[in-house]
Amino acid sequence: MKKKKILVLTGGGDCPGLNAVIRGIYKAAMTHGGYEVYGCIEAFNGLLKDPIEIIKLNKRIVGGIHVKGGTILKTTNKGNPLEFPMLQKDGTYKYKDISKALVKKIRKLGFEAVINIGGDGSQKISQALYEKGLNIIGVPKTIDNDLSATDLTFGFSTAVQIATEAFDKLVTTAESHNRVMIMEVMGRDAGWIALHTAIAGGSEICLIPEIPFDIDVVAKKINKRYKKGKGFVNIVIAEGAKINDKIVGKHAEGDANIKLGGIGNALRQALEKGGCPADIRVTVLGHTQRGGTPVAFDRILATAFGVKAFEMVDAKKYGKMVSYTNNEVTETTLKKATSSYNYVNPKHYLIKTAKALGISFGESP
Ligand code: F6P
Repeated sequence: MKKKKILVLTGGGDCPGLNAVIRGIYKAAMTHGGYEVYGCIEAFNGLLKDPIEIIKLNKRIVGGIHVKGGTILKTTNKGNPLEFPMLQKDGTYKYKDISKALVKKIRKLGFEAVINIGGDGSQKISQALYEKGLNIIGVPKTIDNDLSATDLTFGFSTAVQIATEAFDKLVTTAESHNRVMIMEVMGRDAGWIALHTAIAGGSEICLIPEIPFDIDVVAKKINKRYKKGKGFVNIVIAEGAKINDKIVGKHAEGDANIKLGGIGNALRQALEKGGCPADIRVTVLGHTQRGGTPVAFDRILATAFGVKAFEMVDAKKYGKMVSYTNNEVTETTLKKATSSYNYVNPKHYLIKTAKALGISFGESP
């Protein structure tokens, strides 16, 4: 009997655990039998290249990859088929919707289904392609944990672990030098990494996009701990936190998103301008939070997501996304999954926990 073909791809920013999902899909499909699994290189871009870049997965390619960070299939955040960046002769970009032609091509290549492993943006693409008739299933990924339809995403725990280990290192040097240490972590619109790290590490101040902060309140908190050259303060700030109502970042050609980064230094400058008496140092963790080996929990969650995604293909549950809810790997519709965002709710139990520990979010009284 002719085997059914599944196409797997990873889109958007990479995240520890992507390879474990790919391996989970492949292994579940092989255990079931009757399927072949292919990987599209660099999100949907592999299908748009001439010749196309698609690889047939096998035991040798997939063996042991669950331990590795990154994605063996490569990824990009410059490949949205709904607004595909077309480089013009003058070096600028024009954006074109090429989704219809893409769906046609996938069908022509004989794929039964596509599994798109990606974050919020990638799953919006999945939903749009599903509406155009593609048999597609989403697997949620993001270190930011900002997808509302799942309690957790793989990669998040690894990012928090990396940030916490870095934080712990900054505490000892802050204490030795009586300094204020600012650590900038990822978190475009959601401050989950910052919040978790602040509690795990024991910071004095935690600044996140969801809670606007007042620089005078932050300065006051510092002055409470730092007196006459003695005392130290550790601050965690999410890259998407706003200073004077403004985000800090810059636009990158061919990418719809502003590249965030620099809020840590902006905070340092503002504190210095306000007369902060302590020495201030800034550490930007950046992409270290996305790299390296996934922690065991993320490997397990990602593997379970991969197996579930295959089961959904086999049951033809298209237009849906794998999710993790109430300690169960389950499913939801892509539509629902992409209709709301997982912001940190200021009433969340972890905000209450942090406040009970004396962590300040810099809110005006
Ligand atoms: O979405 C995850 C994320 O880690 C954000 O927190 C961050 O702003 C973004 O990716 C950076 O992505 P890149 O540098 O790959 O464009």
